Amino acid sequence: MGAEKSIIIGSDHAAYDLKENIKAYLLQTGHTVEDVGASGNQSVHYPEYGGKVAGRISEGEFTKGILMCGTGLGMSMVANRYPGVRAALCNGLFAAAMSRRHNDANILVMGGRVIGIDLAREIVRVFLETPFEGGRHQLRIDLFDRIP
Ligand code: RB5
Repeated sequence: MGAEKSIIIGSDHAAYDLKENIKAYLLQTGHTVEDVGASGNQSVHYPEYGGKVAGRISEGEFTKGILMCGTGLGMSMVANRYPGVRAALCNGLFAAAMSRRHNDANILVMGGRVIGIDLAREIVRVFLETPFEGGRHQLRIDLFDRIP
């Protein structure tokens, strides 16, 4: 599955079970996985885990990441504060494909209280397999850097 073989993932408590399932799926499909936590269902603060993943994407250590919280909203807000991060909340397959084709998203975000395991796995597969189309979409992404 996909060209990206080394994936960094993280979640809060609300999506811990989803993270564990997605980690197993990634390992089964030949990826290496860096898991920054959370490490259980006890309550934690999602900005801390979102920052751990987004920071390392921003620094170029990983090219693709996956973040999960209850809705996916908080993790999206946090991750998109980091330079160079394009985090896409995808709770469906069309968004997952388009986030790659048009937005060159480098972090997939999902809501563990929103979608089921089978759909989440399929979203991950589509996200990792779908290439960026470049061209006019690259020009638009370059405009992000003009935002003060
Ligand atoms: C945790 O209760 C919840 O607020 C968090 O997982 C996430 O949904 C925030 O956006």
